Amino acid sequence: MTTLWHHCHAVTMAGGRYAIIDNAALIVRDGRIAWIGAEADLPGEDDTGTIDERRDLGGRWLTPGLIDCHTHLVFGGERSGEFEQRLGGVDYQTIARQGGGILGTVRATREADFDSLYASAEARARVLLREGITTLEIKSGYGLELDSERRMLQVARELGRRLPVSVHTTCLAAHALPPEYAERSDDYITHVCDTLLPALAAEGLVDAVDGFCEGIAFSPDQMRRVFEIARRLGLPLKLHAEQLSHLGGCRLAAEFGALSADHVEYAGDDDARAMAAAGTAAVLLPGAFLTLRETQLPPIDAFRQHGVTMALASDLNPGTSPVLSLRLMMNLACTLFRLTPEEALAGVTLNAACALGIDETHGSLEVGKAADAVAWSISGPAELAYWLGGELPAIPFIAGKEITL
Ligand code: NIG
Ligand code: FE
Repeated sequence: MTTLWHHCHAVTMAGGRYAIIDNAALIVRDGRIAWIGAEADLPGEDDTGTIDERRDLGGRWLTPGLIDCHTHLVFGGERSGEFEQRLGGVDYQTIARQGGGILGTVRATREADFDSLYASAEARARVLLREGITTLEIKSGYGLELDSERRMLQVARELGRRLPVSVHTTCLAAHALPPEYAERSDDYITHVCDTLLPALAAEGLVDAVDGFCEGIAFSPDQMRRVFEIARRLGLPLKLHAEQLSHLGGCRLAAEFGALSADHVEYAGDDDARAMAAAGTAAVLLPGAFLTLRETQLPPIDAFRQHGVTMALASDLNPGTSPVLSLRLMMNLACTLFRLTPEEALAGVTLNAACALGIDETHGSLEVGKAADAVAWSISGPAELAYWLGGELPAIPFIAGKEITL
């Protein structure tokens, strides 16, 4: 099946730049981009093969499909009570040490059966996807024991089957210390390494492995043990690093050639240098930055200077980032972190694809890549980062097919 998309302006994001083609056309064959260029240069059917269908995009702006490369979309309950507590002056770490925070969601997630976990996750996913998200990463990490971690990852896989989105799963069993292992964090890491991770990987539920390297979670040495096992299992790595303090997570991620180090507010120049050398992306999460009223800005200039790939994600989770809009994150990244709208769009397209290890096939409108795209009724790409919330009229496509939600 070959389709011609025409009468659009293509924001290709090739090389992480807008790289706009005005009055563009694309030939989409079997779900991939077979040709892209100015409509005036379109080769004849002798060269392109028969065109089965033509789609007039009505002068819209066509971008790559948006990629949310860091979410904790599957969870039980919600934490508005903790939100009130924090507004009353109690900080995130104190709440965590008192058994709330992540562990509050762990209790609710363990109690939830598959159907209720699925229903609440699907409702959130639908809101996110309406903005043109075609690829979604979803982490476990609120089960912290085999059956519940499995259930979370199964829900994530099921979302990928039932909704028009491609889902990448990440095992975040090293997210917090479960109460049954209190004072025995090394033993929990042993359990993750010897039992939990190998079992879930063998079941095909894990596309990548993540951890929370932080004073209220796990040390770099403990994360190193998890990374060594993950590497032996052939799984790519990610890490929640330098979110609340500087522990050396970014350097560990770089040492292991991780796909990404995420949050990274407390990262420094040396971290940026190491990440650039290793090809480890920085995933910026302005939703968590805002919610925790963080004041330490991620080292954006150092990332730029050393050439670190900067991705941007919702971090959708019930505690630090109850965010249901990736475009809102584009706005916050510009307003709070001083990214340019172009960097923000790269952050949710090509650079997000890098953070998931799928940049060979996704993230930009280039020949050979998946025809995952969004046709927007806007006056230019900066508008995607400009609006503070709300919906923009958009027609999303996955593998060349228009999707409806
Ligand atoms: O990405 N930093 C650790 N994990 C999540 C928060 C999880 C939670 O508070 O429930 C994050 O911010
Ligand atoms: Fe997170």
